[in-house]
Amino acid sequence: MNAASTRKPLLNVLAGNREPVPPIWLMRQAGRYLPEYRELRARAGSFLDLCFTPELAAEATLQPVRRFGFDAAILFSDILVVPYGLGRRVSFEAGEGPRLDPLETPAAIAALPPRLDPSVVEPVYEAIRLVRCELAPSVALLGFCGAPWTVATYMIAGRGTADQAPARLFAYHEPEAFGRLMDRLASASVEYLVGQFRAGVDAVQIFDTWAGVLPAAEFARWCIEPVRRIVAAVRAEVPGAKIIGFPRGVGTSLAAYVENVAVDAVSLDWTVDPGFVRDRIQSRVAVQGNLDPLALVAGGTALDRGVDAALASYGERPFIFNLGHGILPETPLAHVERMVERVRRAA
Ligand code: CP3
Repeated sequence: MNAASTRKPLLNVLAGNREPVPPIWLMRQAGRYLPEYRELRARAGSFLDLCFTPELAAEATLQPVRRFGFDAAILFSDILVVPYGLGRRVSFEAGEGPRLDPLETPAAIAALPPRLDPSVVEPVYEAIRLVRCELAPSVALLGFCGAPWTVATYMIAGRGTADQAPARLFAYHEPEAFGRLMDRLASASVEYLVGQFRAGVDAVQIFDTWAGVLPAAEFARWCIEPVRRIVAAVRAEVPGAKIIGFPRGVGTSLAAYVENVAVDAVSLDWTVDPGFVRDRIQSRVAVQGNLDPLALVAGGTALDRGVDAALASYGERPFIFNLGHGILPETPLAHVERMVERVRRAA
């Protein structure tokens, strides 16, 4: 264990140790449930301007840590920065989610550039350097990227879709071209994560939000395999790089994930069976999660029971408290405060 990990509870857990009080942060902790975020967002104009103006992205990153004293800050950015850095058009329409120019043909995949546009990723790295200067030494700074499969679901459809059918169909019709897209996104992700580590993040999370829609064989081919290669390639450049995986919604296929992908922790969604996780997952790696974001919206006894259940299920071994997916915009601030207090008091 190095000096940095002894000072940062979250890194101590990623090193395989239990913290008496589990470190806590929340997916999407910088966002619309915070009045100060809504004010900053209105000032920035567009969501992408907010992502690509280092001072503003740094401010959005720090807001939730200031308000709630979380143990980690997560870089304010988006997984769709990678397609943008590969020359695809990306925009965020208010209330409608992301829009991209759909990637529809093998020829369009073959035409993707070999590297990320430095003018796109440099402001992200600058935001990391700015946050680093402001953050207390006990708070970890997390970078992230989307896993190739999840990013591809947006690139192919040009938008979020209910069942990711466009990408699933494309992968069946054009497996070779789809494989080339996975390779391209995997190498762009390696470049991007290594850039984030060099700029100063302590650890990264790889978000595979839509992993759960694939049959087991396709999950192995399009999720496990590319992420396995990303983890190995990042560690070849950044020895010992700490990496959290989040293959959301995959149920018992989590076992295949941790057997094949050398992550330091997995983030759990709220549907997994705790006994299965204790026997098959937490015996190998640290876990993070997994309160239902709607229990946090509900508050009261639903919230208290959810917090207590996660602590009882996972708190005896290396554990990071989090939600099972991103915090929802309608979440009351008082419920977040109550959750943080309860996690810290329970130990
Ligand atoms: O966690 C954090 O606070 C850091 C910032 C972060 C954002 N997006 C900011 C954001 C992170 C880690 C992400 C990841 C992300 N982005 C994922 C994976 C995690 C997940 O939640 O599943 C995905 C699938 C995306 C793509 C994306 N970005 C969608 C589908 C949307 C629209 C839906 C929505 O929540 O509005 C976004 C926009 C987005 N990314 C917002 C924020 C704060 C809201 C935009 C706004 O402020 O108008």
